[in-house]
Amino acid sequence: AAPAPIRLNAPALFASRFPARSHATHKGTYGSLAVVGGDTGMCGAPILAARAALHAGAGKVHVAFVGAGGPAYDPPHPELMLHALDDVPLDTMDALAIGCGMGGSVRAAATLRRALSLDVPKIIDADALNLLARDASLADEVAACGAAGDVCVLTPHPLEAARLIGSSAATVQKDRLAAARALAARFASVAVLKGAGTVIAAPDGRVAINPTGSAALATGGTGDVLGGIIGALLAQRLPPYEAALAGVYLHGLAADALTERGHGPAGLTAGELAPVVRELLNRLI
Ligand code: APR
Ligand code: MG
Repeated sequence: AAPAPIRLNAPALFASRFPARSHATHKGTYGSLAVVGGDTGMCGAPILAARAALHAGAGKVHVAFVGAGGPAYDPPHPELMLHALDDVPLDTMDALAIGCGMGGSVRAAATLRRALSLDVPKIIDADALNLLARDASLADEVAACGAAGDVCVLTPHPLEAARLIGSSAATVQKDRLAAARALAARFASVAVLKGAGTVIAAPDGRVAINPTGSAALATGGTGDVLGGIIGALLAQRLPPYEAALAGVYLHGLAADALTERGHGPAGLTAGELAPVVRELLNRLI
């Protein structure tokens, strides 16, 4: 029988995995992340993800724009390093977050294929998931990464999940645990099936249901923020399952805290989550 899912309520599960902020450390200790995405006209998504990654403790955060016309820097966060894709040495990163606003161009698909060839922890979201759903050879490469011990994190919402397993969003929603487990098995990856009661399933059979968050998160860009948080945790060398658990938990907890403060459930904006994630993270580590 499949193991019963744990209801994730023990931040201690992952808090001990964070790198200690000891005196003799430097930004390299906390890892470099490249957020890869942003086709022409879709630069906001990777910037949201990158800002979230900064606030979740990554040592250095780059954005690699797949399309032309990306901004030179992010005025509220000049700490971010924004570049054209060809100017970012992806193989030197400690983690990659790929897919937000990436579009479905030939270049996007080639970029995903290159990322999958690199032995770097990866979180795969949004348009990159749709590329996997359309191209079985790319999907097989994700599974091959997992089989080789480089387990990816996939973060689909129910419709993206349905495309990935050849199902419908309604069927996914009828049995979310089964869908998450099917994704984890097919892709040899950690599957994060988003939506109320996010399910996190690992290819080894571990599975959890996240208790935090609410419909305050039902607003554009919150998924990009989650991708950036998980990317930052991978860059800080949390293993993929723990990075997914911690990221989903903190993202939801930030929404709960903002709601408590009167900034939700209506009208919460995705960008507001990041500084609250920072606050909560610092209470846990
Ligand atoms: N309860 C708890 N969490 C929720 C709820 C809810 N009722 N509704 C939404 N969420 C959370 C999800 O679990 C997820 O973490 O909000 C986030 C929404 O993520 P996405 O669906 O990916 O939304 P978004 O950020 O707007 O996506 C940006 O990526 O998936 C593509 O088509 C999408 O182009 C869009 C882009
Ligand atoms: Mg999304």
